[in-house]
Amino acid sequence: MMDVKQYLLKKKKVIDEALDCFLPQPDVYPCSIHQAMRYSVMGTGKRFRPILTVATFELLGGEGDGDILRAACALELIHTYSLIHDDLPCMDDDAWRRGKPTLHKAFDESIAVLAGDALSALAFELLASTGRSDIIHEVAKAIGAQGMVGGQVVDIETEGKPFSSKDVEYIHSQKTGALITVAARIGAILAGAGIQELTSVTRFGKDLGLAFQIVDDILNLEGETDTLGKSTGTDEKKKKATYPALFGLEHSRLEAQRFIEKAKKELDMLGTSAYILKALADFVIQRTR
Ligand code: IPE
Ligand code: IPE
Ligand code: MG
Ligand code: MG
Repeated sequence: MMDVKQYLLKKKKVIDEALDCFLPQPDVYPCSIHQAMRYSVMGTGKRFRPILTVATFELLGGEGDGDILRAACALELIHTYSLIHDDLPCMDDDAWRRGKPTLHKAFDESIAVLAGDALSALAFELLASTGRSDIIHEVAKAIGAQGMVGGQVVDIETEGKPFSSKDVEYIHSQKTGALITVAARIGAILAGAGIQELTSVTRFGKDLGLAFQIVDDILNLEGETDTLGKSTGTDEKKKKATYPALFGLEHSRLEAQRFIEKAKKELDMLGTSAYILKALADFVIQRTR
C-alpha cells in the first residue's frame, strides 16, 4: 500500500504538468491576463479535487489519461477561480493565498475578476473537449447558484448575523462540498461506474466535502499562516458562519471526524481497493494546510 503523502506528491506532479500545458503561455497577447491566470493556478495548491477525480477513476477501473486529465484539471481551474473571487475586497477581502499575495494585490481587482472569469471559461473548454455533455452538465450544476455559488451567497449574507447548524451545513456543503462531490462523481462517470458505485461515491464526496470545510474552519483558527499559505483568524474577525463559532473547536473536530468516518463507510461496497480514497479522507482530517 502506498503512503498517502507519496501518492499526493506523485499525482500533484502529473496534474501540475497538465495544467502547465493547458494554460495559455504568459507571453501571448493580452499577456497580463495569461500571467495572472498562471500566477494563481501554478504553485502550492494541493490539487485535492483533481487528485480525487483521478483516484476515483482509477479505483473504478478507468483507463487512458486523456479525458480524465482534462476533466480533472478543469476542476482545479474552477477551484482556483473560486479562490480568486473569494479573496476579493467585496468578498472575504484577503491579502494572502497559496503562500503569496492574492491576485488582486499582486495585479489589480479588474484583472482578478477577469482571470477568474477566464479560468472558468477555460475549464469549460477543457470539459467540452472530452465530448461528454453529461460531464459538462454535472460541473455546471455543481458550481452554479444551486451549488458552489449558492454556498458563497449564503456565506456572505450570513456574515455578522446569527446562524443555525442548518445554515452552516448548507453553506459548507455548497461552497466547498459541491465541487468536491462532483470531483469524485466525474472520476466515477468517466470510469463507466454503475449506479450503485456512483451512489456510494456521491455519498462519500458529500461527507468528505463537508469535513474538508470544517477542517478549513479549524485551521483558520489554529493553523499556522506560514504552513497554510493564507491568513488565519479572519473568520472570527468577519464573524463568519463556521463550525467552531457555533460548536467550539473540540466539538468541530469531532464533527469533522464523524463525517470522515461516514464518508469512508460509504466506500465499503467497493472493496479493499478503495483504500486510497479512504486514505485521502484520512488526509483531510490530518492536514495542516
Ligand atoms: C481552500 O481549498 C478553500 C476551500 C474551499 C476550503 P484548498 O485547501 O483545497 O486550497 P488549495 O487548493 O490547496 O490552495
Ligand atoms: C472558500 O471558502 C470557498 C470557495 C472559494 C468556493 P473560505 O472563504 O472559507 O475559504 P478560505 O479559507 O478563504 O480558503
Ligand atoms: Mg469565503
Ligand atoms: Mg475566504
